[in-house]
Amino acid sequence: MRHILIIGIGAGNPEHMTVQAINALNRADVLFIPTKGAKKAELAEVRRDICARYVTRPGSRTVEFAVPMRRTEGRSYTDSVDEWHASIATAYEDLLERELSDGQTGAFLVWGDPMLYDSTIRIIERVRARGRVDFGFDVIPGITSLQALCASHRIPLNLVGKPVEITTGRRLAESFPEKTATAAVMLDGEQAFQKVEDPEAEIYWGAYLGTPDEIVISGRLDEVKEKILSTRKEARERMGWIMDIYLLRKGADFDD
Ligand SMILES: C[S@@+](CC[C@H](N)C(=O)[O-])C[C@H]1O[C@@H](n2cnc3c(N)ncnc32)[C@H](O)[C@@H]1O
Repeated sequence: MRHILIIGIGAGNPEHMTVQAINALNRADVLFIPTKGAKKAELAEVRRDICARYVTRPGSRTVEFAVPMRRTEGRSYTDSVDEWHASIATAYEDLLERELSDGQTGAFLVWGDPMLYDSTIRIIERVRARGRVDFGFDVIPGITSLQALCASHRIPLNLVGKPVEITTGRRLAESFPEKTATAAVMLDGEQAFQKVEDPEAEIYWGAYLGTPDEIVISGRLDEVKEKILSTRKEARERMGWIMDIYLLRKGADFDD
């Protein structure tokens, strides 16, 4: 039977790799590296750098594959994601059949941690359920962008004894500030923080965390909002892409 390792590689700094992740890399016969087009070439580059630094096993090889693009026209969000996952599942099936022989191990290098806003695990489950290729799999955790954000700002994620909501830009308005004192926001293409009108809200923002291009800004939301927007716009134009994450907070430790 074939075996798959889904390895969390951290959020951009090759030193985020845990000892467990390095050992897992060295159990693999084949390392699968996704490419996401020229704009995000840096992300594939981080994976190549990780392999070059840490893979010591003789004879293992790297296979790069293009990730299918998501189509959105004329589809609901859920239909579009479901269709996209189905096409990635087919790409995975082809890769496993073509690149791994019976008894071999393949590794998928997943950005951050595979449990956080990443679908590799559910797509691998989908491939298994289809039954065309027989394999087992394990998941190796990694440092998430949320951990990298808190570390760079030198803050704890939660206020003492208080909950945190992890959400997307699309759904931020449903949670902060009414329902939660701390919201961590990922996958925000619309800069949803702009619409938060609360004089007490604070923001901790970070882009390209863990990489040499890392930018962090924090402060009272109404005071730094414009600075984040202009910094983000300038960086996105200069780099051709951006990945950013932020934490919105209201209140303090020991508030009731
Ligand atoms: C598809 S999710 C993947 C999250 C990843 N599995 C993790 O554990 O961080 C991509 C989102 O993660 C955040 N992200 C990932 N890496 C980042 C980085 N180095 N700097 C800033 N944000 C990052 C951004 O919000 C981005 O839109």
